[in-house]
Amino acid sequence: MISKELEKAFNEQITFEIYSEYIYLSMQAYCARMHLAGFTNWLDIQVKEERAHAMGLYNYVISRGGKVELGAIDAPKQDWNSVLEVFEDVLKHEQIVTSRINALADIADEVKDRAATSFLDWYISEQVEEENNASEILAKLRLIKEDANALLLLDKDLAARVFNPPVIG
Ligand code: FEO
Repeated sequence: MISKELEKAFNEQITFEIYSEYIYLSMQAYCARMHLAGFTNWLDIQVKEERAHAMGLYNYVISRGGKVELGAIDAPKQDWNSVLEVFEDVLKHEQIVTSRINALADIADEVKDRAATSFLDWYISEQVEEENNASEILAKLRLIKEDANALLLLDKDLAARVFNPPVIG
């Protein structure tokens, strides 16, 4: 059975992962509006990954005899001036997610819930990948600056990303 304190923290993170999904969906709409099909595809997969992250936590709460309670979600940002700005926001957002996952793991440690600590290791590793993915694209966008041809080549690369449903836990 999951403790009430940890259940509450898990529920807050489920809501935050769905909020992440919502943020990326808004970024996806912006890139679609810019006719950047590869960036749109990359963000579409990010949207699906965030839902998978939320469902991993959701299923875990249920498997531990807890109650899933979903919170309110704020409206996401709707506009950016460039895809560079979008990816600055992606990286900043993933850094926030990392700090939240670390805080969640701290609570699992404090209540001595070893099963939850072990389960959250997957999310801790996933955040290394999430930040790295965002950093790599951001670094390329900073090199590209105003070079439209280079931007279109990167867009073509990002069109190749495919969604592999993560196996969580
Ligand atoms: Fe669910 Fe992108 O972290």
